[in-house]
Amino acid sequence: MYNKKAVLAGVVAFIILMTAPFWLNAGREHKKLELEKPQFEKECVEPIKWMRAGHMQLLDNWRNEAVRESKRDYTSEHFKAGHDNKKFKKSLTLTCLDCHKNKKKFCDKCHTYAGVKPYCWECHVAPEEKI
Ligand code: HEC
Ligand code: HEC
Ligand code: HEC
Repeated sequence: MYNKKAVLAGVVAFIILMTAPFWLNAGREHKKLELEKPQFEKECVEPIKWMRAGHMQLLDNWRNEAVRESKRDYTSEHFKAGHDNKKFKKSLTLTCLDCHKNKKKFCDKCHTYAGVKPYCWECHVAPEEKI
């Protein structure tokens, strides 16, 4: 007869062991990565945890809706759920980079670390780089 508890404990221990390098590193590396946060604004368009994982999807939706459907106003889901009704323009440079003024020390820094190179900047021009 198997001891169910022992088997379960074994499985849990195995999962923790297998994923430890990942989440130990994730926490540590993220701290090492000092990103320049907006000086005056305290919150992102959506909750920060969601943004970390979902900002690419959000931008993709924004582009499609703004360009194809001419829907250029965005009301944060976050704020719909009780807070002030925060509205944003669906714009990469005029919205994201209006708060995240330093693309190099924010977007680029994390992307370089993560090994991603969004091709957006072949056409879109970051405000700081216009000068
Ligand atoms: C109103 C100002 C504002 C706008 C607009 C804004 N952000 Fe943010 N964003 C912030 C702030 C403030 C933080 C940091 C929040 C914190 O530390 O709790 C943040 C955090 C983030 C993070 C997480 C960073 C980390 O430390 O992991 C990402 C990614 C991000 N923003 C991307 C974007 C993108 C992409 C857009 C445009 C779709 C955008 N932001 C628009 C203010 C803004
Ligand atoms: C905390 C780290 C972090 C920050 C800060 C961050 N990104 Fe990202 N971004 C990522 C990661 C990781 C990916 C790749 C995710 C994937 O492929 O699933 C990504 C992917 C993207 C993509 C999709 C690229 C592609 O080729 O699929 C876009 C667009 C993007 N980020 C825009 C931005 C912009 C604009 C900012 C600054 C306002 C920003 N990101 C800030 C981590 C970050
Ligand atoms: C081949 C050139 C090109 C590339 C590459 C490109 N875009 Fe665009 N994008 C445009 C043009 C042109 C518009 C239309 C401008 C308008 O109608 O305001 C646009 C509009 C947008 C808009 C809505 C309007 C605004 O002010 O931002 C978003 C959001 C957007 N793009 C996001 C992205 C993202 C994210 C990437 C990279 C993953 C990207 N684009 C790559 C050309 C490009």
